[in-house]
Amino acid sequence: MTVRPAVSTVRSEAAFERAQTLTPGGVNSPVRAFRSVGGTPRFIRSASGPYLYDLDGNELVDLVCSWGPMLLGHAHPEVIGAVVNAAQRGTSYGAPTLAEVDLAAEIRDRMPVEQVRLVNSGTEATMSVLRLARAVTGRDKIIKFAGCYHGHVDALLAAAGSGVATLAIPGTPGVTEGTTLDTLVLGYNDRNAVHEAFASFGSEIAAVITEAAPGNMGVVPPRTEDGIGFNAFLADIAHQHGAMFISDEVMTGFRVSRSGQFGLDGVRPDLMTFGKVMGGGFPAAAFGGPTDIMENLAPVGSVYQAGTLSGNPIATAAGLATLRLATPQVYSQIDSTSATVRAEVAAALEAAGVPYVIQNAGNLFSVFFVSEGVTAVPDYATATQQSTSAYAAFFHSMLGSGVYLPPSVYEAWFLSAAHDDRALNRIVEALPTAAAAAASASGDR
Ligand SMILES: Cc1ncc(COP(=O)(O)O)c(C=O)c1O
Repeated sequence: MTVRPAVSTVRSEAAFERAQTLTPGGVNSPVRAFRSVGGTPRFIRSASGPYLYDLDGNELVDLVCSWGPMLLGHAHPEVIGAVVNAAQRGTSYGAPTLAEVDLAAEIRDRMPVEQVRLVNSGTEATMSVLRLARAVTGRDKIIKFAGCYHGHVDALLAAAGSGVATLAIPGTPGVTEGTTLDTLVLGYNDRNAVHEAFASFGSEIAAVITEAAPGNMGVVPPRTEDGIGFNAFLADIAHQHGAMFISDEVMTGFRVSRSGQFGLDGVRPDLMTFGKVMGGGFPAAAFGGPTDIMENLAPVGSVYQAGTLSGNPIATAAGLATLRLATPQVYSQIDSTSATVRAEVAAALEAAGVPYVIQNAGNLFSVFFVSEGVTAVPDYATATQQSTSAYAAFFHSMLGSGVYLPPSVYEAWFLSAAHDDRALNRIVEALPTAAAAAASASGDR
């Protein structure tokens, strides 16, 4: 059933004005503020299936899907049923539940981990795996890649993607030099740089952390060279030097396939992080790995990690319901919708003469508004050479036609199993005008 709320008497404009007096920038996470595309963010009143309903009375086809979690679409009746059922039994106990064990088992069924610890956000998950990797190896340094975003963990905010890229923030004030001193930032897909880093600091490196397939500088898939994928290369070189290979699957996990990027390239990490889809739209995330590493965590081991609301029964119920409903058929449907949207976007941009590159990792994709002649975006340095004004024009035209794209050129486009023909038709019909708008703006960088 589609729930269409009555139009509010408070419009997005007025809501945003009030919000800015109460919250920095009027938002609780920076990219939501529309800073890089301009204009007023739409305030959302409700959502159902593939649609968002804003305060202004518009129905918008949602290609953000809460930045990934809504794999089944909004307000899926069975997920909502599980949530209501859980809420009626109490909202938080601060004591273990069977549902947490079931959720850990669902994750272990799909991913190469033996044990899982539940946390509340992807940020907490990546922060915790770094601590664990450093404790187990007894080393301090970590390698991360420019343009990869692992949440707002101090040590990982160096050259981060997502909002840090969107707002062109070079480093984050408040993060001390000491905190990032042990973070080596390399170019993504740059194997020579990784060789050099290990040659210089091999015995000091605790771990290499990477997005399994980066989606926070736009989608930049791991490159295969001489038959070896970038993730396999990273795992191998890390192990040669006694370091861990950490795969951040917060975005890709349970989304790009039932087993995330691991399901696509089969590379077994030492530690993994998960979030988004596994929380079914609630604050839940996790990290996992082999028992002998994970049992270094308290209460078995001495590496401390904890959370008042970790394994919260409502979030756990939503995550469990989502993972159980995410059948192989759901993924093949989203894969096919993604292929259609990618082809339609390509055709529209081609027809309008707008230079573009579309890259995907499974069903996750993004559109780069590149300069003439650029045919691939292998790293962050290339990703930043885009026409943000062409994207802004494209974005606002799509929005005006009832399609909600990510309000930043550095973000992935997300689809759900609820995106049906009606939603697809809306996207397809909106594309020619948006491509023409991008064409008129694409001279400005
Ligand atoms: C790959 C990746 N890791 C970590 C995070 C941080 O997750 P959260 O926003 O839940 O803290 C994100 C968020 O977008 C992400 O995309």
